[in-house]
Amino acid sequence: MNSLLLNTDGVQIPQLGFGVWQVPDDEAERAVSFAIEAGYTSIDTARLYFNEEGVGRAIARADVPREKLFITTKLWNDDHDRAEAAFEASLSRLGLDQLDLYLIHWPVPAQDKYVQAWKSMERLYKDGRVRAIGVSNFTIAHLERLMNETEIVPSINQIELHPRFPQPELRAFHEANGILTEAWSPLGQGRGLLDDPALATLGRKHGKSPAQVVLRWHVQLGNVVIPKSVTPSRIRENIDVFDFTLDPEDMAAIGALNNGTRLGPDPATFNWMG
Ligand SMILES: NC(=O)c1ccc[n+]([C@@H]2O[C@H](COP(=O)([O-])OP(=O)(O)OC[C@H]3O[C@@H](n4cnc5c(N)ncnc54)[C@H](OP(=O)(O)O)[C@@H]3O)[C@@H](O)[C@H]2O)c1
Repeated sequence: MNSLLLNTDGVQIPQLGFGVWQVPDDEAERAVSFAIEAGYTSIDTARLYFNEEGVGRAIARADVPREKLFITTKLWNDDHDRAEAAFEASLSRLGLDQLDLYLIHWPVPAQDKYVQAWKSMERLYKDGRVRAIGVSNFTIAHLERLMNETEIVPSINQIELHPRFPQPELRAFHEANGILTEAWSPLGQGRGLLDDPALATLGRKHGKSPAQVVLRWHVQLGNVVIPKSVTPSRIRENIDVFDFTLDPEDMAAIGALNNGTRLGPDPATFNWMG
């Protein structure tokens, strides 16, 4: 498994992790346990997924020592003005005494509290409660504001990113500022994208599935990637992407699938509090 260096004192994040959005709490324990057995060491959850306890049970029963795992959770939108308390509540649901990565889930521009939230995250980081801090769904404008008004540059921005919505400008901004790009819905949520004939052709060429071709594209772009599945065969399939290489024409063929289609909301106008 490749790891990528975060901009925080030598902390590394596995390039491919396991996402658990829309996995109910009781199923999360089973899915995460299976994923850890299959070789995943990075798990991405959030307060809003209501499965931190299930994830925590899987971590507690794993044969892998805690320090070999990389656990991410996120600050929900209605907690921006009480980030430290929300963090401790998440940590307690996860059954952990330190987190690897804490993200602001959405900027929620209408509420305009993300700078305040970030300052609390900085305190959590300085106090050693979390090894790295970052954001999710931040646009260039949101990132610039944080960088102008606060001390620590986010280590990562977790954004919607898949072949139909590859976000080249935001990726370039991240690269120029030492911020890692983490792709959510990396498989385009499975339906539609994975049925594209171009991916089937590339899959045949490399002896891989369309999902593996897409995940390999992410890896070669330098993205951190967190595919979700509750299906054991797919959980295994999605991590088996480190034994082949897409050539430049393959990368270009996947790049040509960009049609600007978002699956999720636009962060510039998303102000939902849950
Ligand atoms: N920060 C944010 O705002 C945000 C937003 C969305 C997601 N995320 C994170 O990103 C993670 C991944 O995104 P996502 O769950 O939206 O979508 P995704 O990983 O792109 O796709 C998941 C869907 O694809 C199917 N799938 C998985 N592997 C497959 C394979 N090999 N072949 C065919 N189908 C496959 C899954 O089905 P089965 O499960 O039935 O196998 C599921 O329906 C989330 O779980 C979450 O951790 C973050």
